Amino acid sequence: MAQDEAGAATRYVAMVAGIAAVGGALFGYDTGVISGAILYIARDFPMDAGEQGLVVSAVTLGALVGAVGAGALADRLGRRLTNVAAGLIFVFASLVSALAIGMETLVAGRFLVGCGIGLTSVAAPMYIAEAAPARLRGTLVSVFQLAVTIGILVAYLVDEALAAAGSWRWMLGVAALPGALLAVGMLPLPESPRWLAKVGRDAEARAVLGQLRGDGHVEDELGEIKQDLARERSGSWARLLDADVRPALLVGIGLAVFQQITGINAVIYYAPQIFQSAGFESDVVALAATIGIGVVNVLATLIAIWLVDRAGRRPLLIAGVLGMVAALAVLGIAFRDTSQGAEGGLGSITVLCLGAYIVSFAFSLGPIVWLMISEIYPYTVRAPAIAVSTAANWAANFLVSLTFPILRIRIGSSATFLIYATLGVLTLLFILTRVPETKGKTLEEIGRSWHS
Ligand code: BGC
Repeated sequence: MAQDEAGAATRYVAMVAGIAAVGGALFGYDTGVISGAILYIARDFPMDAGEQGLVVSAVTLGALVGAVGAGALADRLGRRLTNVAAGLIFVFASLVSALAIGMETLVAGRFLVGCGIGLTSVAAPMYIAEAAPARLRGTLVSVFQLAVTIGILVAYLVDEALAAAGSWRWMLGVAALPGALLAVGMLPLPESPRWLAKVGRDAEARAVLGQLRGDGHVEDELGEIKQDLARERSGSWARLLDADVRPALLVGIGLAVFQQITGINAVIYYAPQIFQSAGFESDVVALAATIGIGVVNVLATLIAIWLVDRAGRRPLLIAGVLGMVAALAVLGIAFRDTSQGAEGGLGSITVLCLGAYIVSFAFSLGPIVWLMISEIYPYTVRAPAIAVSTAANWAANFLVSLTFPILRIRIGSSATFLIYATLGVLTLLFILTRVPETKGKTLEEIGRSWHS
């Protein structure tokens, strides 16, 4: 009987995580879709390179703003309503983008889409981490990343399917549907028990924990949460600078930035161009290879879902970053001489290395960064600290996606890949020396571990 009850609770918490993760699918879709859409937008709204850059990067800037805003909203409105707000923004912003009458409305629409992504990239992993039992937290937060990768893959496929018709308005507009699903789906879900306890709504926190755990351990968990709240000094943005918060913040911001500066979005956003410079001249082949990257990205995320609560965070991070560094180093060396083209072996080396790089990212930095950002912080500063780390991730993303095309022209693909490889070595050192193992610990245990 107790087992049935626990099984039902596990299914319920998985469903809760699945609905919150729809925001991840929108994050992936809306960041992935623009690479294909921009070609056709440029036909309707003639624009120079600078304006193109603006249309593409508006989302990243919006995400930065949305992430900072999410820090305040998630504490004030609660985690659930912040996710609902993200869904509503996605609906509105997708429609504004799809119906844009000119460059200004389009950039505004894309900026708003970015705000939705910023909100969801803070609020969804936080909500899932606070709802999940410790033993499943890694798996359930990794579902968010799985949704991101599915969103990217669907964007590649939609771009491909609508390319012949050049229907960029549909490419941007269809995201309104999952946006509505997110807003409506989140409404009946319970609020995070940890947020309820934080604002003093203990009876509701107890009831929600009962729903999510379905066993007799609710009082223990609630007791632990309350003890922590009593111990922690009240949180505010200024508290982020306190000596006992700083080590955690360093880990969160460090992971967030390293996830980006090791080049993931140079590949995700520019894969067709990379394949073309490896000698696959036809658009069709380059696009097919890109879709292959999207599929591998989804599948390899399943490795993390399976292993993150078994093997732990650190072994996956270490193995993954090692794989990324090796793949980038080989690419860097192979691209020294591009004169032989695809037939000369560069094509297959590129396919193999990009594949190995994506697999290695997908089971390590991809999911585990979002997971650890949402689990390492002590209670009272959790929302602002997650917001700051996530904003740092978007700032670094902006920098890399803006500079990759410039670097390729100025210093060449080979040197660019070698820079990412070197930054990968720094990432590895950072993980080895700074990042703690959080597998199986409750959020309260992790929060307290920084004090010792
Ligand atoms: C990163 C994104 C990236 C995606 C690729 C996410 O974890 O934050 O920047 O595009 O993974 O799958």
